[in-house]
Amino acid sequence: MHNKAVADFLVVENTQLNSTNFLIKLKGEKDLPKLYPGQFVNVDIKGLNDVFLRRPFSIFEVNYTENTLSLIVKILGKGSKKLTEIKKDETCNIVFPLGNRFTIPNKGEKILLIGGGSGVAPMLFLAKVCGLDANSVNLLLGARTKEDHIDATNYSKYGKLNFASEDGSLGEKGFVTQHSVFLNLKLYDRIYACGPDAMMKAIAKEAKAANVFCEVSLENLMACGFGVCLCCIEPTTDGNKTVCKNGPVFNINDLKW
Ligand SMILES: Cc1cc2nc3c(=O)[nH]c(=O)nc-3n(C[C@H](O)[C@H](O)[C@H](O)COP(=O)(O)OP(=O)(O)OC[C@H]3O[C@@H](n4cnc5c(N)ncnc54)[C@H](O)[C@@H]3O)c2cc1C
Ligand code: FES
Repeated sequence: MHNKAVADFLVVENTQLNSTNFLIKLKGEKDLPKLYPGQFVNVDIKGLNDVFLRRPFSIFEVNYTENTLSLIVKILGKGSKKLTEIKKDETCNIVFPLGNRFTIPNKGEKILLIGGGSGVAPMLFLAKVCGLDANSVNLLLGARTKEDHIDATNYSKYGKLNFASEDGSLGEKGFVTQHSVFLNLKLYDRIYACGPDAMMKAIAKEAKAANVFCEVSLENLMACGFGVCLCCIEPTTDGNKTVCKNGPVFNINDLKW
């Protein structure tokens, strides 16, 4: 695996996608190493006296020609809010690449990718680089309302887009686990998910019952991001693991859920 680096990146774009999500594109000075879906960067948030720890964000898109990587940042608290205020041409210091990665599916397999809230970023990245035909990939994106969804239209070339919203304002009404593409999990060779804990636990339960391969990317609270502070521990069948270094991607059979 490529060594992690700490580097200043230039902000080349900061676009507001909807009321709470921003797309931040960062350009590195040195050539980017190969980056994989599931990996994340730990961002130094400048300008706040009471936010001194870095904040983790999944890698959403990579452009090796431009030497850029993009993040989707959803405003949750002070750190993410401050990050969304960063301006074009400012610098952003990140530690990268961190964490493991999703298992790439085999040719000919059918997969279901489920992203909830800010969990859509790694799912869209995986859809783009997994190497499967679009008709073998089902993307299921969930959020509270239509306004909370980002526009994923461009990703229809990598898979079939399905939406769920709690109020029914986009796609089917309800949670992702109530969506029609989730009803028969035996149709898929692999299921991948990232989003709120409750969502991933509900998905894991059904995937286990259907005996389908399933990986989830955990979003435990983190500090150091590389396995030292132990604040992101997750109990597994093989003892306690750090989500930042041993994860964030875990097979559900290894989790004590
Ligand atoms: C591996 C990984 C990848 C991530 N990828 C993305 C991404 O692509 N896009 C994105 O928008 N966010 C992502 N997150 C979540 C992001 O790191 C948090 O939203 C951010 O750190 C919150 O910082 P804050 O200062 O805004 O909030 P804080 O002020 O630190 O917290 C505000 C509130 O949110 C809670 N909270 C903070 N972090 C989390 C969390 N991870 N899960 C649940 N509750 C939390 C706090 O307990 C507190 O109640 C990821 C997290 C991890 C661990
Ligand atoms: S965040 Fe420090 S060990 Fe995981």
